[in-house]
Amino acid sequence: MQKDQSGKKEMKKWNVQAVRAAKGKEKLGCCTAYDACFAALADQAGVPVILVGDSIGNNVLGYRTTLPVDIADIVAATAAVARAVKDALVVADLPFGSYQCGEDAALANAVACIKAGADAVKLEGGEEFAPLIRRIAACGIPVLAHVGMMPQSVNAYGGFRKQGKTREDADKVVRDALAVEAAGAFAVTLECIPSELAAQITATVAIPTIGVGAGPVCDAQWLVMHDLLGLNERSPSFAKQYANLRDVVRDAFAAYVGEVRAGSFPPSR
Ligand code: KIV
Repeated sequence: MQKDQSGKKEMKKWNVQAVRAAKGKEKLGCCTAYDACFAALADQAGVPVILVGDSIGNNVLGYRTTLPVDIADIVAATAAVARAVKDALVVADLPFGSYQCGEDAALANAVACIKAGADAVKLEGGEEFAPLIRRIAACGIPVLAHVGMMPQSVNAYGGFRKQGKTREDADKVVRDALAVEAAGAFAVTLECIPSELAAQITATVAIPTIGVGAGPVCDAQWLVMHDLLGLNERSPSFAKQYANLRDVVRDAFAAYVGEVRAGSFPPSR
């Protein structure tokens, strides 16, 4: 534990054991960040877990999906975030193609994320990826699993669709959560599943569940930074906007351009 910059608030240094220990005791508001500037602000505000998500694809790199994101994109962003963060746990998201083409390549990419400064890696996949999770975790790399709606499978779903809606699908998501827990994942992301199913899984597994579009009962929540700050033109319906930076930033740019045009900036000395 340490004091924050003002010397008042108790700040906590987060690690995977602390995240596990928070289950049932403290609800964690976690978010993504993709650069040093915003990661430092999230860290100073007390965000416990910062994910360098493959959502960098949609939010920063201008892609429509996360699929074109490369391991080099994640490694570079992870290094920037890790340099800026003091207390939060930094998790690097393994992007599409970086862990599906063989366990050796997957392990090498997980190692690259840790060398860039990540404390843990995240990957999408349930039962089928349990052996890989076990192998990465056995090398001392904490793994955060991700089940339910897995955006890297958007083409297989035929769109970004809520998962676990039928009995059969819900049973599969439960099996996935149990499999990744048994394989050694320290936490599991539950994305876009019915809140009753998320509640059932949260009560069943001993590791923390981190929900995104999965209702209020999860042990923790994710929000994508650009949704949280109101930087995106459109956000998913489950995402809450805590600021309207889109207008603030656009107005600031416009004021600057206007003042230069008018000759009022820079001031004459
Ligand atoms: O990449 C991402 O932003 C994510 C979160 C939605 C969990 O995977």
